[in-house]
Amino acid sequence: MKLDGKVAVVTGAGNGIGEALARRFAAEGARVVVTDIEPEAVSRVADDLGTVGLAADITEPASVRAVAELARDSYGEVDVWLSNAGVAGPRQPRDLQDDSLWDLMWRLHVLSHLTAAREVLPSMIARGDGYLVSTASSVALAIQPEKAAYSVTKTAALALAEWLAVQYRPFGVKVSCFCPGPMLTRMLLSNEFAPDHPALAQALTPEQVADVVTAGIAAERFLITTQPGAEHSLADKAADYDAWIGQAGHFLADSPPVGN
Ligand SMILES: NC(=O)c1ccc[n+]([C@@H]2O[C@H](COP(=O)([O-])OP(=O)(O)OC[C@H]3O[C@@H](n4cnc5c(N)ncnc54)[C@H](O)[C@@H]3O)[C@@H](O)[C@H]2O)c1
Repeated sequence: MKLDGKVAVVTGAGNGIGEALARRFAAEGARVVVTDIEPEAVSRVADDLGTVGLAADITEPASVRAVAELARDSYGEVDVWLSNAGVAGPRQPRDLQDDSLWDLMWRLHVLSHLTAAREVLPSMIARGDGYLVSTASSVALAIQPEKAAYSVTKTAALALAEWLAVQYRPFGVKVSCFCPGPMLTRMLLSNEFAPDHPALAQALTPEQVADVVTAGIAAERFLITTQPGAEHSLADKAADYDAWIGQAGHFLADSPPVGN
């Protein structure tokens, strides 16, 4: 899809990848609506882009509705909805035990994507056009030891995107799932990796990531990744599940997990 002239909503647009994508979408000619839970970040990005924004917790269905209404009232029906907001969360053992963390991650990484789809799909189907993009993670392809809630909810985000693609592509709705490896944002840096950690060497800048995602959208490719061969872990898993599980555990013993 060409973004020029399209109405695009970006969640988690106050920082990191969401901010870089909001800026890139605007540079491509889209009319962008930015939303984030951090009010100052929303104002900064919206003011810079000369566009509208809403500070909102996207885990609340009423917030999703309010963002969609802002987009419609300001620019018209939503053409592209990028569900990107996310949190990294703590490592084991806290993350396995913490019910409130599981609840937050489920609502943020999965249900907010579903609520957005519910909100914009009727109009997209009626027009036979539209695009749902969700940010999951490479951990949805390969699992991240030490982060149960993050790994499981990002995998569920990929499953939801797959389901939406299968169900709605025949009606003209495009769907992409963005499964990046490490990216140089505050989320990655919050891991406090040592300066020589491989995740930092592999990490792409937000601007490089914006190139990758806009190219994926232009090609209308379902799976968008930042690391060459990232999707091979799906093939490895399918080829020999037991070997794959052993290998994933080995990775934990050898080196700390990379990415978020
Ligand atoms: N940085 C990485 O290495 C990496 C790797 C793979 C996937 N991801 C995913 O990429 C996405 C963007 O992350 P980032 O690296 O740009 O991190 P980031 O922390 O810079 O940006 C995330 C944004 O989401 C917002 N947000 C969090 N909770 C929210 C809520 N309830 N409602 C609305 N907004 C909320 C934050 O305020 C922040 O602006 C996330 O979904 C993350 O899981 C990141």
